[in-house]
Amino acid sequence: MAAEPASLVDVVLLPMQRRHLRAALRIENQVYPRPWTTGLFQSELALGDRRTYLVAKASSKLVGYGGALYVLPDAHITTIAVEPSFQRQGIGVLLLHALCRAAVDKGATALTLEVRTSNEPALRLYRRFGFAPAGVREGYYTDPVEDAVIMWAHDVDGAAFAARLDELAPRQEAS
Ligand SMILES: CC(C)(COP(=O)(O)OP(=O)(O)OC[C@H]1O[C@@H](n2cnc3c(N)ncnc32)[C@H](O)[C@@H]1OP(=O)(O)O)[C@@H](O)C(=O)NCCC(=O)NCCS
Repeated sequence: MAAEPASLVDVVLLPMQRRHLRAALRIENQVYPRPWTTGLFQSELALGDRRTYLVAKASSKLVGYGGALYVLPDAHITTIAVEPSFQRQGIGVLLLHALCRAAVDKGATALTLEVRTSNEPALRLYRRFGFAPAGVREGYYTDPVEDAVIMWAHDVDGAAFAARLDELAPRQEAS
């Protein structure tokens, strides 16, 4: 059952810190068949400004997170996950939006990621941001073995992508 919709106005994004890892791992273990370990998250966080990791909090509960790494001029979305009972409420868009903005601010001109061929929710999310399939990496995933779709969004430093991000920007109701 979906959790009481957290109004997106109440969802805040913060830089991921080590103290967030216990809650992030709880989500990680629910949503990925091959979850990242605490050590992997820690080594990513240790890379400072070569990475961006964000958490989404709703009423101080950690409900999602996402990350990007930079090999400029490319940025790679490494992970994005939302706690199952908070999915389909716009939090994935919020996180990906912030990661795209962070990548453009870092100087990225292209964004890439891999996704399981069967992961329709994620594929649809990425398509909304202008990611297009560019190839398949056969047998990339295990448990179960599955191909990865490699997706790219190009010219993310241009006006068309900026307009797309503006269009996708979560609407905050004026009170
Ligand atoms: C992919 C994921 C992060 C999306 O997060 P979310 O907060 O549910 O996404 P949003 O509510 O912002 O939805 C954004 C769009 O994604 C697509 N989408 C999300 N969930 C979907 C679903 N269950 N079925 C179809 N499309 C879906 C839709 O296009 C949706 O827009 P819409 O609701 O206006 O139709 C979430 O499903 C998740 O954590 N999945 C498990 C981890 C994972 O697979 N991560 C990606 C690895 S590559």
